[in-house]
Amino acid sequence: MSGSSVNVVEAKTAVSTKPPSARPPKPRSTKRPSAPVAFWRSTIGKKTVMAVSGLLFVLFLLAHMLGNLKIFAGAAEFNEYGMWLRTLGEPMLSYGWFLWIQRVVLLVALVAHIVAAAQLSLRDRRARPVRYTRGQRVKATFATRTMRWGGIILALFIVWHILDLTVGAVNPDFRYGEPHHNVVVGFEVWWINVIYIVAMVMLGLHINHGFWSAAQTLGVNRPARQRVIKTIGSTLAVVLTVGFVIVPVAVMTGVVS
Ligand code: HEM
Repeated sequence: MSGSSVNVVEAKTAVSTKPPSARPPKPRSTKRPSAPVAFWRSTIGKKTVMAVSGLLFVLFLLAHMLGNLKIFAGAAEFNEYGMWLRTLGEPMLSYGWFLWIQRVVLLVALVAHIVAAAQLSLRDRRARPVRYTRGQRVKATFATRTMRWGGIILALFIVWHILDLTVGAVNPDFRYGEPHHNVVVGFEVWWINVIYIVAMVMLGLHINHGFWSAAQTLGVNRPARQRVIKTIGSTLAVVLTVGFVIVPVAVMTGVVS
């Protein structure tokens, strides 16, 4: 081989063995993102998505809790309520459509809520090269950790809850169309009560802090209104926690059977 062809081979080899990290970065697109994309990418956009989806969950949970309390009216009325959820909106909607619309809306809101939370948390970590001092850290991390861990526990609970009372896969004796029976046989098992009660306490803590954060994001949390906002958040948290927990407690104590 001549000297020049050796050089060509060497040069080619040198290029192909370059580690990927040493390659020049791809040029970033100079195209401006559309308004919704720019909004989603911004911190305030993600916080707004979290606030609005969180408030939507609170509305759903208030309706769900009130519906659950119908269990005190007896099996027939509770099962009829379950059936009504499926026929709601008829004849414009067909059987079950309302529930499916609700499922899609809640699922989209849940995914947006979780993705925004995870991305904000990552952004927060990256933006804090200097760590908190000990006192600051204790205060800041209690609320943040409760929200993060509470959120993870609630997400796992929702999966469990659907497997329990919608699909029936983890329910001790699931019968389609008989929610009263399904709730009672579940709450007769002590550890199922533990799962629900722990999740409901987490729900209360999550709403207590989340409502406050949502008010701040949406700009309604003026100094003069802070006490009112805090009171509304904690009242919602207590009402929802107690309103949900009362059902397993009623089954455990034999009030509902
Ligand atoms: C003790 C507390 C609770 C009880 C007894 C309860 C009971 C039920 C029952 C019986 C159903 C099935 C309704 C039906 O298909 O007819 C249901 C569905 C549902 N529950 Fe709960 N629930 C409780 C707490 C919660 C909480 C705290 C959440 C959310 C964090 C939640 C979220 C849901 C959702 C999203 C569905 C709809 C699932 C679907 O689309 O089929 N529930 N619940």
